[in-house]
Amino acid sequence: MQREIGRSGLRVAPLALGGNVFGWTADEASSFAVLDAFVDGGFNLIDTADVYSRWAPGHSGGESEAVIGRWLKAPGNAHKRDRIVLATKVGKPMGDEGSGKTGLSRRWIRQAVHDSLQRLQTDRIDLYQSHDDDTATPLEETMAAFAELIAEGKVRAIGASNFTAARLAEANGAAARLGVPRYECLQPHYNLVERKVFEDELEPLCREQNIGVINFFGLARGFLTGKYRSEADLAKSIRGGGVKKYLEPHPMRVLAALDAVADELKATPAQVALAWQMARPGITAPIASATGVAQLQELMGAARLVLSPAQIGELGAASQGL
Ligand SMILES: NC(=O)c1ccc[n+]([C@@H]2O[C@H](COP(=O)([O-])OP(=O)(O)OC[C@H]3O[C@@H](n4cnc5c(N)ncnc54)[C@H](OP(=O)(O)O)[C@@H]3O)[C@@H](O)[C@H]2O)c1
Repeated sequence: MQREIGRSGLRVAPLALGGNVFGWTADEASSFAVLDAFVDGGFNLIDTADVYSRWAPGHSGGESEAVIGRWLKAPGNAHKRDRIVLATKVGKPMGDEGSGKTGLSRRWIRQAVHDSLQRLQTDRIDLYQSHDDDTATPLEETMAAFAELIAEGKVRAIGASNFTAARLAEANGAAARLGVPRYECLQPHYNLVERKVFEDELEPLCREQNIGVINFFGLARGFLTGKYRSEADLAKSIRGGGVKKYLEPHPMRVLAALDAVADELKATPAQVALAWQMARPGITAPIASATGVAQLQELMGAARLVLSPAQIGELGAASQGL
């Protein structure tokens, strides 16, 4: 059931665990339980970022990586480092404006990887990702800096998030000219209610060049689980505010299509939404997070679900244009 991320040699199960919730909406005990259940379930790709969860009051960034680091060092967990594919990111601001703790310069990448390795309590990052494009730094500088980290054994492969197709192609062109490793993976925003940006330009490029894709917001922050159907439901989680924009007729028709397919398969809308992404050629693994083990068990069930061509077609038609 494993798939290779681009040509990186990294092989992953078809669902990635999102780490933004660790130390934020999931406390340490729940985070450890979710991580354990994920690995015990046969899955391996864990995605985090240096900046998680800097947006939360009182946080400064690094909280999620630190939770994962403590989990790796918890009694009985030593063998888990080799069972997981650990992905993190650099590039979003980790300090106030003017602090220089941002972007993709060689100087900041080298500092940031050091900081991430310390928090993660490990000697290597399997997939190191540019969190955002940085047009102020020459692409050659960034790609050469990543190549140094790969040569030093601190990083195994690199990826890019939130890049346009043109800039991803340019970055990999720069890598080819320099004779250094390219971005083997893209992390775009993509799900049944956010299709256009990825499908128009990024998806064809990634398929043509065999770049892996691990898309984020696999559940549209929880909307695709079906638990938000009215304004009153938005109070169900601190994440509700980000879901409000989907309480509109077109996304609600997508939810109705998910309900119908879920009924046919005796599954849940969340499982069908993730299975639809997994079935899409070019998607390596959607990323979704869970704040508890029961949620995660439901999500992992998506990997066992097989959608028929007719069901894929129904979901595609309901979400066409989004
Ligand atoms: N590259 C980027 O710029 C970028 C941006 C955003 C995210 N990401 C990555 O993508 C990952 C996923 O994003 P996300 O966590 O924000 O959104 P998401 O995966 O779309 O939504 C996950 C949230 O939905 C709820 N949920 C999950 N399973 C559920 C279930 N079975 N039943 C009911 N509710 C359930 C949980 O929140 P509640 O329990 O609070 O309802 C959970 O935290 C992140 O962890 C991160 O790794 C990357």
